[in-house]
Amino acid sequence: MNIGNIQFRHGLFLAPMAGITDHAFRSVCVACGAEGVTTELVSAKGVYYGDKKSEILAKINNNERPAAIQIFGSEPNIMAYAAKTLSRYNPEYFDINMGCPVPKLVKNGEGSALMRSPDLCERIVYAVANAVSVPVTVKIRKSCDDFDEDSAVKVATACEKGGASAIFVHGRTRSQMYTGVADKTVIARVKSAVTVPVIGNGDINSYESYLAMKQETGCDGVMIGRGAYGSPWVFSQIIAGINGEEYTQPTVAEKKEILLKQFDMVVKEKGMNGIREFRHHLLQYCKGFHGSAKLRKEISLLTTPKSVLDAIDAVFV
Ligand SMILES: Cc1cc2nc3c(=O)[nH]c(=O)nc-3n(C[C@H](O)[C@H](O)[C@H](O)COP(=O)(O)O)c2cc1C
Repeated sequence: MNIGNIQFRHGLFLAPMAGITDHAFRSVCVACGAEGVTTELVSAKGVYYGDKKSEILAKINNNERPAAIQIFGSEPNIMAYAAKTLSRYNPEYFDINMGCPVPKLVKNGEGSALMRSPDLCERIVYAVANAVSVPVTVKIRKSCDDFDEDSAVKVATACEKGGASAIFVHGRTRSQMYTGVADKTVIARVKSAVTVPVIGNGDINSYESYLAMKQETGCDGVMIGRGAYGSPWVFSQIIAGINGEEYTQPTVAEKKEILLKQFDMVVKEKGMNGIREFRHHLLQYCKGFHGSAKLRKEISLLTTPKSVLDAIDAVFV
C-alpha cells in the first residue's frame, strides 16, 4: 500500500502512544519490522505560540523513517501553520489526530471532538495539505459520541474530500477509551466508503489478529499500539506469518539484546530523565516472567542506569 508515493510493503504501522512511543521505542519497532511510525501527538497551538517542548516531540531520527508527525488542534489556520513550521523535521507525512479521547483536548474541541464536525475535519485537512509538500493522513475513532453510528464514515469521506492520503481507523468510541473490543465493522464501512488506503487499528497483537483485521475489514494496512508495547517483535511475527514462515518467539537473549539497545538509546537521548519512562517499558518486557509481582515492585524503585542494567541482567538470564 501507499501513502502518497511512499510505499509500505506490508502496511505495518506502529501506533502513536503519548509517553511510550519515543525515539528509542520507535526505532526498535522499525528494527523489528514496523514500516511506518508516528511521533507522539504535538500541539499545533504549542507550535504556534513557540513552545519548545511541543517542537521537541516532532523530531525524527533517521533510524525511524518513514515517520509521520502527528499534530492536534482544531483551528485550520493554526494547524496549517504548525505543519508548515514542523516541516523542518522532514517527516515523510503528517498525521492529524482526530481520535484522542482525553477530556482536556475534547473540552477544547480537539482530538476526537473533531469527529462531531465532519465539515471542520475537511477544512483542517485541506488547510494542512495545502501548507505542506508531503502527504497528510488522519487518525480517527469509531465516533466521538456513542449515538453517532455513522460518524467514522462521514468524517473519513470528508477528510478524503479535504485531501487526506490515508485514513487510520481505531474501532472504539471516545467513551470506550481503550477498553472493550475494537469494532471491525466500522473499519470495513470506512474502507467501502473511501478510495484512499484505510489502516485498521485496535487489539492487534499477533499474526492471527492481524489476519482477522485484514480479512474482516478489507483494510490496506494495520496499526499496532499496545500489542507492540513490551513486544516490538510482534512486527516480525506478522511478517513471518505473511511470508508463510514458521515463527519462533525471540529467545531470552534476543529479547535482552533488543531492550538493552532501547535502553542505551533512551539514556543517550534523555539521560537520567529517561529512566522513569523506561521503567514502564521494562515492566512490559518482563510481563509473564516468573515472579512478576515482586519484579514490578523492584523495577518501580530503579533510579540509575546501573540499577536498570543490573535488573535486566537478573531477569533476562
Ligand atoms: C498510552 C496511550 C497513549 C496514546 N497516545 C496516542 C496519541 O498520542 N495519538 C493517537 O493518535 N493515539 C494515541 N493512542 C491510541 C493508539 O494510537 C491506538 O489507537 C490505540 O491504543 C488502539 O490500538 P491498540 O489496541 O493496538 O493499542 C494512545 C493509546 C495509549 C494506550
